Amino acid sequence: MSETFSSRPVRVAVIGAGPAGVYASDILAKAQKKHDLRFSIDLYDRYPAPFGLIRYGVAPDHPRIKGIIKALHKVLDRGDIRLLGNVNIGTDLTIEDLRRHYDAVIFATGAIKDADLDIPGIDLEGSFGAADFVSWYDGHPDYPREWPLEAEQVAVIGNGNVALDVARVLSKHADDLLSTEIPENVYQGLKTSPVTDVHVFGRRGPAQVKFTPLELRELSHSRDVDIVLYEEDFEFDEASDEAIKSNNQVKTMVNTLANWLVEQEERTEEASRKLHLHFLHQPVEILEGKNPDGSGTGKVAGIRFERMELDGTGNVKGTGEYLDYDVQAVYRAVGYFGSEVEGIPFDEKKGVIVNEAGRVLDEDGRHIPGTYATGWIKRGPVGLIGHTKGDAMETIDCLIEDINHLPEAEQPEENAVVELLESRGVEYTTWEGWLKLDEHEAALGRKATESGPVERERVKVVPREDMVKISRG
Ligand SMILES: Cc1cc2nc3c(=O)[nH]c(=O)nc-3n(C[C@H](O)[C@H](O)[C@H](O)COP(=O)(O)OP(=O)(O)OC[C@H]3O[C@@H](n4cnc5c(N)ncnc54)[C@H](O)[C@@H]3O)c2cc1C
Ligand SMILES: NC(=O)c1ccc[n+]([C@@H]2O[C@H](COP(=O)([O-])OP(=O)(O)OC[C@H]3O[C@@H](n4cnc5c(N)ncnc54)[C@H](OP(=O)(O)O)[C@@H]3O)[C@@H](O)[C@H]2O)c1
Repeated sequence: MSETFSSRPVRVAVIGAGPAGVYASDILAKAQKKHDLRFSIDLYDRYPAPFGLIRYGVAPDHPRIKGIIKALHKVLDRGDIRLLGNVNIGTDLTIEDLRRHYDAVIFATGAIKDADLDIPGIDLEGSFGAADFVSWYDGHPDYPREWPLEAEQVAVIGNGNVALDVARVLSKHADDLLSTEIPENVYQGLKTSPVTDVHVFGRRGPAQVKFTPLELRELSHSRDVDIVLYEEDFEFDEASDEAIKSNNQVKTMVNTLANWLVEQEERTEEASRKLHLHFLHQPVEILEGKNPDGSGTGKVAGIRFERMELDGTGNVKGTGEYLDYDVQAVYRAVGYFGSEVEGIPFDEKKGVIVNEAGRVLDEDGRHIPGTYATGWIKRGPVGLIGHTKGDAMETIDCLIEDINHLPEAEQPEENAVVELLESRGVEYTTWEGWLKLDEHEAALGRKATESGPVERERVKVVPREDMVKISRG
């Protein structure tokens, strides 16, 4: 081991307190004993609260998944990882600042924005990114408090779990979400929604969906919402048959969909809201409304799809037949996309930090010493919370392997970086601050339980300034 690191701990900054950042910090802290090393770990987040997409992505009516926060809470409550929230890396602290204060930096900055969908009409009023809507209903501090829920007919593009989350939240009655942690403005907003029909469109077939069985079945649990399927969408090619035979998840989902198709024939009562699942629909244009004089309204009035057919391999080709649907809002749930951190090599196509097994690479493909990535920003916005643990293990293994080649920090003292933040007037939050905010939100939940119709474990605080004020006491 280098002489430096036998006399002082290795200083590591982990950027992003989502699951990937917390797991990386935890694995690093636990590696100390095994490798006879000492790490001093600072975990940064741009939000005043930790837990990334678990707090600002996972749907509010998924309390079991939100419960993963309890396990991550235990990690940060041990006291061997210092949380510094409300610090944006790139502005509040630059990459140069990080290099001066740390021997190694791990980027776990995830993804928060929507992937693009490049079709005409995508910029019309009433065309939204799913990620923006998710941020609104999950009470993200940097998003507007109001959401325009004026459409009776809505299209959701995509066949992943985010599309299902969005369709479920849009179609559920607001009162059925009241027991969750949704903020008051979200409940009030959803209550005004006049929606009657939510249409989810996949571009491939029922055996090619990206969502998962549990999430699919959950759709049928919404009160007063009928699921509607279309027989002509049930197309299967050789690849579909193979997938159904070899993959239990695919088989379960295809069976679930086929059963619903049969059951809908036997329905005797009609729900006030319908959730339609369409397959083999490739979006080609979002249609603009017309004023009486023929000019455009600038608003969504419909959506056009090309009917697709399977090509034998599970992929699709166009049939040349076009179908229009009257909708007043379109949500694209075609995947998330990572954001660049200034000064760190970024792959614009994939939306990830350029890396090999977590080692960040420069434009010549050489490892930038002391620089690592993990989680969604390492491998793209796919996979579940649990998968970020495996990412973190691989990245930390690399860091430990490189331990004798880390560039040594000029100012490794733990206080130095905090003094720098203070000198810049950055109102950083801490773990103790999160405990205060956590208790405050729980207290709001207790208050709402006393005065309202349902039990509420928590009510989220949304404005950033309120979060910071409560955290900083
Ligand atoms: C809508 C949605 C619902 C989901 N639901 C589920 C589910 O039910 N179950 C499940 O298992 N998985 C779910 N997932 C997947 C899960 O959220 C991801 O696998 C996981 O969050 C990825 O973790 P991460 O830490 O890489 O990224 P993130 O969770 O995005 O965390 C990244 C963190 O980095 C911070 N950050 C970014 N840039 C900076 C910066 N410049 N400076 C400081 N901090 C920064 C962010 O603020 C954020 O807190 C869902 C995903 C989405 C999008
Ligand atoms: N409850 C949960 O467990 C949960 C909830 C939310 C998210 N997540 C996870 O988070 C990750 C991200 O989810 P996601 O839904 O954002 O992504 P995803 O699973 O990758 O799904 C994206 C969907 O968009 C479609 N799509 C992409 N480009 C398109 C285009 N140009 N036109 C039409 N459709 C297009 C894809 O179709 P193709 O397949 O044809 O490309 C796919 O159906 C996933 O791993 C997901 O499982 C989990």
